[in-house]
Amino acid sequence: MKVPFFDLKPQSLALKGEIQSAIDEVFESQQFIMGAQVQALEQAIANYCNTPYAIGVASGSDALLLSLMALGIGQGDEVIMPPFTFFATAGSVSHIGAVPVFVDIDPQTYNIDPSKIEKKITKRTKAIMPVHLFGQCADMDPILKIAKSKQVYIIEDAAQALGSEYNPSTGNKGQRAGQMGDLGCFSFYPTKNLGAFGDAGMVVANDSLLAEKVRLLRVHGSKPKYYHKWIGINSRLDTMQAAILLVKFKYLEKWTEARQGLSQRYEKLFQDLLSFVAEIKLPVIQYANRHIFNQYVVRVPKRDQLKKFLSEEGIGTDIYYPLPLHLQECFSFLNHHQGDFPVSEKAAVETLALPIFPELTKEQQERVVDRIKAFYKK
Ligand SMILES: Cc1ncc(COP(=O)(O)O)c(C=O)c1O
Repeated sequence: MKVPFFDLKPQSLALKGEIQSAIDEVFESQQFIMGAQVQALEQAIANYCNTPYAIGVASGSDALLLSLMALGIGQGDEVIMPPFTFFATAGSVSHIGAVPVFVDIDPQTYNIDPSKIEKKITKRTKAIMPVHLFGQCADMDPILKIAKSKQVYIIEDAAQALGSEYNPSTGNKGQRAGQMGDLGCFSFYPTKNLGAFGDAGMVVANDSLLAEKVRLLRVHGSKPKYYHKWIGINSRLDTMQAAILLVKFKYLEKWTEARQGLSQRYEKLFQDLLSFVAEIKLPVIQYANRHIFNQYVVRVPKRDQLKKFLSEEGIGTDIYYPLPLHLQECFSFLNHHQGDFPVSEKAAVETLALPIFPELTKEQQERVVDRIKAFYKK
């Protein structure tokens, strides 16, 4: 039995009729840019994230870029972030001439370690960009506290975390990803819990002026048309993508619950192996957080051999991320070296993402775990 790492087809086929009708509606209206579906999706996502404002943009990467621009961050400013994340977190910062300043991660959640942030803050620090990696919120209370006392902004990179909730026993209980910082950024890349038929993204905001600035910056800063208050970019969310996302949004809760169910099953299926191979670490849910399991990432010994073995057995896996950002060639000008962020570096060589998507069957999941057990019992 083959088990793909990710398979969109069952979901797309199940919704084929509904999606086709939504596309037909866009065809009829011919409003390909800023059609009614864009506003409808913005409203739906704002409600879902408990924020008054949401602005549809062309991708999660642009959501980050536009957020930085809206906060006036630019040349020489510093933005704090973890090095164990997707490239766009740091890429967006570099693009506007600012400097990514890395802070190592927590070994259990893989999110930025708040206890290491404060000593990285300088006069040039303008923002902290926590990433809610794999679908679990970073430990936001201490981060919010530091941001407040140092008067720096927070841009949440919530690309992987739509619907994720931060739920410590005290403090900001039950807050949704995106609503805690100044701006929150989401991606609708096809592999996300809510995925478009291409690229798409969203910025959420609590402040009306900031929301308006992002709204203008995504259309070259123009208002009224052809009169430009700021230098923006072209980063609109296509009506077609919004129409497709609106159909899929109706199923998001069900899909996320299916992912959570799969995570619980993985946990049960792995129990006996954990007592046998103590180094295997399953995902850890911090506090009573709502983890949306965009990825199910385990820490394992002999990671690369295991990946190869599973691939030969027809089981797809992936590595998020094999090289932390401080060691990327394009950031060599930051003068970082191996050993600078040891927790991230260790995660990069020890972690493996296993198949998790709502339509993954019981048999497929059992097969994944069975083959992993076979590898360690060899
Ligand atoms: C943590 C993180 N940030 C930013 C992005 C960028 O989103 P997009 O691919 O929609 O540009 C992604 C997407 O994969 C991501 O995982």
